[in-house]
Amino acid sequence: MADRISSDAETSVDWSSYYEKTGDRSPRPTLIKVLDAFAAEDFLTDRLAIDLGCGSGRDTMEILRRGWPVLAVDAAPEAIEKLLARPDLPNECEIETLVSRYEDMSLPPCNLVNAGFSLPLCPADVFPSVWAKIVSALAPGGRFSGQLYGDRDDWVDLSGVTCQSRDQVVELLEPFDVEFLDEEEDDSVTPRGVQKYWHIFHIVARKR
Ligand SMILES: C[S@@+](CC[C@H](N)C(=O)[O-])C[C@H]1O[C@@H](n2cnc3c(N)ncnc32)[C@H](O)[C@@H]1O
Repeated sequence: MADRISSDAETSVDWSSYYEKTGDRSPRPTLIKVLDAFAAEDFLTDRLAIDLGCGSGRDTMEILRRGWPVLAVDAAPEAIEKLLARPDLPNECEIETLVSRYEDMSLPPCNLVNAGFSLPLCPADVFPSVWAKIVSALAPGGRFSGQLYGDRDDWVDLSGVTCQSRDQVVELLEPFDVEFLDEEEDDSVTPRGVQKYWHIFHIVARKR
């Protein structure tokens, strides 16, 4: 599969070229699923979405298009600059941005946390507190959408990356009703042509 993250020295990534290659791509299927789930509930007022590791905004843009206020968070100032400079960013949209690492941010109460291929890029020692922040920020009925990496992923031993076994993913999702959990494994080439074995959990889950 080509629609994945690109990596040079894996976690010390040259995000610039990643943003160039992927910023205009269509939103992640997990995001579409979660937004459709909210739309089916007519959930329209007092809502906030947080896009964690938003990059140059392929998912943020779709959340805005669906009329949600968004807080877009990324550790890379360039990601936020590129997002705010997008010509397709609507004039009227409600967007706030935050340059921060997950471990340093505090999250406002919200209804959706989306993390498209971004949350595993978090050191294992801080991942539990980051996940706890996400769970606690989500209101009951709020949803998480995004990806986690599995323990057979090629990046399992890299510092700065957190991978989970299926049992660990199930445990993380304990506070949620799991609406979609797809486990994917394959050998493929990243957008930058790097061969990689991917083990990915694609998730949509609703907090109880
Ligand atoms: C693979 S990109 C994903 C971008 C976008 N969500 C997408 O679906 O294409 C990962 C993003 O996470 C950001 N990121 C990586 N580690 C981070 C961390 N510890 N805290 C905050 N952002 C981080 C990177 O700067 C990058 O923009």
